[in-house]
Amino acid sequence: AEYTSILVERNQRVGIVTLNRPKELNALNFQLVSELADALEEFDRDEAIGCIILTGAGEKAFAAGADIKEMADKSPVDMMLGGFDSWARIRKIHKPLIAAVNGYALGGGCELAMHCDLIIATENARFGQPEILIGVIPGAGGTQRLARTLGKYRTMEIVLTGSPISAKELESLGLVNHVVPQGELLNEALKLAHKIASQAPIATRLAKESVLAAFETSLEEGLAIELKNFFLLFSTEDMREGMRAFIEKRQANFQGK
Ligand code: HXC
Repeated sequence: AEYTSILVERNQRVGIVTLNRPKELNALNFQLVSELADALEEFDRDEAIGCIILTGAGEKAFAAGADIKEMADKSPVDMMLGGFDSWARIRKIHKPLIAAVNGYALGGGCELAMHCDLIIATENARFGQPEILIGVIPGAGGTQRLARTLGKYRTMEIVLTGSPISAKELESLGLVNHVVPQGELLNEALKLAHKIASQAPIATRLAKESVLAAFETSLEEGLAIELKNFFLLFSTEDMREGMRAFIEKRQANFQGK
């Protein structure tokens, strides 16, 4: 596919999508988010890909939020019809997504990072939900995902003041997996992505599905989903191979079957 606002590449079993409007700090206009959903779905369908990294072009930003210039004159109906379906499509990606946050992740940029399954960030990365400063509130899950991860009180401060938070603080609060030096971001993300991409694909898919179920269900329901997925994996060739390889003291060779 031809994209104007993102770059798409592959590194062995890892797909990399780069938000590519660096002059606008990778501001998320409707076109970009729709291209992003297309690219992620294409990788999701591709058996040669096991994990996807999402990052931003340039040194300054992952994404500085939804495109304020595009939104400034919009009506509620314009916004409703404008492409929020793309965010729902991103939520439904089955393969693990790693956000490699290389600078500002503000507003929709912070929310996009939180759509991912793991977040790696540079020391200078700044997260935040500054929507309140321009008279709105987060619209792509910021209030919900922050509250589920950080709890009520820190989330209230972030959403009500719009003040940014450092990657280090978010690492200590459990929202950022690892903080790395600026020059090492992509390498570190790739290391993690290759590790994930080398596991049995069906187990990986059901592992992601099971963890995400924790945010939708009671404990009993979540435990039941996990256990059914666990049982289901005993129908896969990769489960036989993985256990046999352990017993024979050799590396497993997974086929995604
Ligand atoms: C459109 C943006 C933008 C944005 C930056 N730019 N953020 N354009 N939408 N969200 C543009 C600037 O207008 C400028 O272009 C260029 O990028 C560089 O930005 P500067 O402001 O000159 O850089 P700097 O002074 O270093 O400040 C960086 C910044 C600031 C602190 C990140 O740009 C900023 O506060 N941006 C807005 C952050 C924000 O409010 N995000 C939330 C948006 S609402 P020109 O051509 O003018 O020089 C949102 C709702 C999500 O995300 C809803 C769900 C999708």
